[in-house]
Amino acid sequence: MKKTIADIQLKGKRVLMRADFNVPLDEHRNITDDARIVAALPSIKYIIAEGGRLILMSHMGRPKGEKKEEFCLDPVAERLSALLGKNVKKMDDCIGEDVEEAAGSMVDGDVILLENLRFYKEETKNDVVFAKQLASLGEVFAEDAFGTCHRAHASTVGITEFLPSVAGFLVQKEIEYFEKVTKSPDKPFCLILGGAKVADKIPLIENMLDKIDYLIIGGAMAYTFLKSRHKGIGSSRVENEMLDTVRKIFDEAGKKNVSIFLPKDHVVSKEIAEKAKNKVVAEDIPDGWIGLDIGPATIKRYRSVIKESKTIVWNGPMGLFEMKAYSTGTKKLAEFMAKLDATTVIGGGDTAAAVNQIGLGKKMSHMSTGGGASLEYLEGKELPGIAALDEKERV
Ligand code: 3PG
Repeated sequence: MKKTIADIQLKGKRVLMRADFNVPLDEHRNITDDARIVAALPSIKYIIAEGGRLILMSHMGRPKGEKKEEFCLDPVAERLSALLGKNVKKMDDCIGEDVEEAAGSMVDGDVILLENLRFYKEETKNDVVFAKQLASLGEVFAEDAFGTCHRAHASTVGITEFLPSVAGFLVQKEIEYFEKVTKSPDKPFCLILGGAKVADKIPLIENMLDKIDYLIIGGAMAYTFLKSRHKGIGSSRVENEMLDTVRKIFDEAGKKNVSIFLPKDHVVSKEIAEKAKNKVVAEDIPDGWIGLDIGPATIKRYRSVIKESKTIVWNGPMGLFEMKAYSTGTKKLAEFMAKLDATTVIGGGDTAAAVNQIGLGKKMSHMSTGGGASLEYLEGKELPGIAALDEKERV
């Protein structure tokens, strides 16, 4: 078990906390979804209440080592100040004299936010000198950026060489849920996968087949699965190069007693546009039509599978959720899951964004804040940002 901020003395200490404030912004740089900032609040509030001096650091986007206005963290500092009801001092850099001076003159309960770490290419290169410079600002390192725990960067891994390193409450909660579903899930266990690409989900399916009872497939990836079963998929998106892999998955699933559920009806259109004419077709999709969402009979079927399950992990929307006309499957599934007395874990990225947009985030047992990180956890990989943290002493 990893040590957390609750296991150490924080009073009067400069706590350097890595957060994932990589939030979506609109063209006016307004935050459109602050879920990742809100998710870091329990750790932030705790550190302040304990009398720590909190130095927050994060990345935003992928500026590739260049300082670019559109990736500055000012909107985050503003939102965080509003959420905390307390001024968060935003620095113009993440290392250097000004930052050192500001860190040195903090008093208990102060909060400062460093500028985007990825304005230095050394961050993503896990450069040891850069990591040491960051570390020199604090006395303790807290990792609360689950979304970047799959990255071995200076602020997630390099820094742990120089400071006592513990998990924040968000990372602790993410570990708890992902450990539970990958090591000791309550059964039956249903994995729901959607989204565009089969290739992205193969390592995850291979790792999870031993643990699950049901595998529900939706989203564009379903059409490759359907084609492998010789169903008509019209002009739907398909990954022909994955057909053999998908057939092997069916074989493996059969051996492991895992039932795979595929859509049996579809919302289809001749073009991908919100206003284009669409209709529901059962079984085979006719030539020239594109499958864009699961149909009502599929929703009903998936609902009954979900209802039987005690653990449900969901990664990837059921249809082209961004368009209202094709968001019903995802919406309905989220609504059923929200009512269940089961462990419901939503993978980060698109799925979490969709569930938050529907307003059901609070009804799930756990909404992951990591897209790539939650995928890698479910693939059975060790996340370097978690592996690098100190272990709790055994008593
Ligand atoms: C995410 O958005 O998944 C995290 O913030 C990680 O971002 P990255 O993929 O650019 O490392």
